[in-house]
Amino acid sequence: MRVVVIGGGTMGIGIGHRFAAHGGFVELVDVDLATAEAAVAKIGATLDSAETRGKIASAADAKDRIVAIGSIDEATHHPDAAIEAVIENVDLKRTILQSAERLEPTVLGSNTSSLSIDSLAEGLQQPTRFVGLHFFNPVWAIPLIEVIKGEATSSDTLASVTEIVEFLDMEQAVINDAPGFATSRLGVLVGLEAIRMVEQGVASPADIDRAMSLGYRHPMGPLMLGDLVGLDVRLGIAKHLATVYGERFEPPELLKTMVAEGKLGKKSGMGFYDWSSGSAVPIEEP
Ligand code: NAI
Repeated sequence: MRVVVIGGGTMGIGIGHRFAAHGGFVELVDVDLATAEAAVAKIGATLDSAETRGKIASAADAKDRIVAIGSIDEATHHPDAAIEAVIENVDLKRTILQSAERLEPTVLGSNTSSLSIDSLAEGLQQPTRFVGLHFFNPVWAIPLIEVIKGEATSSDTLASVTEIVEFLDMEQAVINDAPGFATSRLGVLVGLEAIRMVEQGVASPADIDRAMSLGYRHPMGPLMLGDLVGLDVRLGIAKHLATVYGERFEPPELLKTMVAEGKLGKKSGMGFYDWSSGSAVPIEEP
C-alpha cells in the first residue's frame, strides 16, 4: 500500500507511523523539504520507541519505507491514498486537496476534525474519490478512523477505504457529512457541559471526571480529555459548531478565559489540571 501524507504535524506523523509500521510506503510532504525531513525524523523516533516497547518487529524496516518530499508535485502518481493533515483551514485544505488530486490517488482523504467534507470537496475534479478520514491522536494507539461520507463520495471509494482500514488493523465508523461528525459533536458537547458545571460550582474537575470514568466507564473524564486535546482546539471547534447548531455549543466564559490566559491543558502545563510535573494533578481552582 502506498500513501502520500500531506502535513507532518501531530497527525501527519501519527498517520505516517501507522502506515509504515503496517508495511506501507509513505511519502510525506510539508511546507518545504526541511520541514518534511524533520517530520520523518520524528516518525523515526516514534518507530524506535514502538520497537523498544515490542509493538513492532523492526523500526529500521519501517523507516526504510518513509521518504520526505518537498512538494506534492514530486510525489509518485497513483498512490492508494493521499491524505491531507494540514491545519484546520478551509481555504488551505481546498488548495492542498486540489493539488493532491492531480496525483490521481484511489482515495483522496482529509483528516479534518470538524470541517464539512462537502465544503472541502468544492473545486475538486473528482469528488467521488474524496472522503473524510478522521484519525485520532495518538494514531498508533487509537484504532479508529471516523470515515466521513460526502454527498459525492462513491461506494467504490468507501470500499477502498475499507481495504485501507483493514491494512492498518483499524476499525471504522461511517458517518454522513454533518458538522462535528459523530465524535467531535458529542465529545465537545459533553466537555462544554462539564466546564459549565465547574463554572457553576457543581463539582471540582477531578470529581466530575471520576464520576464519568467510574460511573459511565469512560476511559477518562471530559475535563481531562479536554486538557489532553488542548482547550484552544476545543474552543475553536465549539465556536464553529455554535455557528451551525446554535446556543448549545456556545463556549462557556470559563473556557474562553482559560484559553485567553494561556491555560491550554497539558501542552501549556496548566488546564483543568496542573500538568507541570508531566501528569495530571488536581487543582482547587482551574
Ligand atoms: P499541526 O499544526 O500539528 O500540523 C499541521 C502541519 O501542516 C504542520 O506540520 C505544517 O507545517 C503543515 N502545513 C501547513 N501548511 C502546509 C502546506 N501548505 N503544505 C504542506 N504542509 C503544510 O496540526 P495537527 O494537530 O496535526 O492537525 C492536522 C489536522 O488534523 C487538522 O485538520 C486537525 O483538525 C486534524 N486533527 C487533529 C487532531 C489532534 O488531536 N491534533 C485529531 C484529529 C484530527
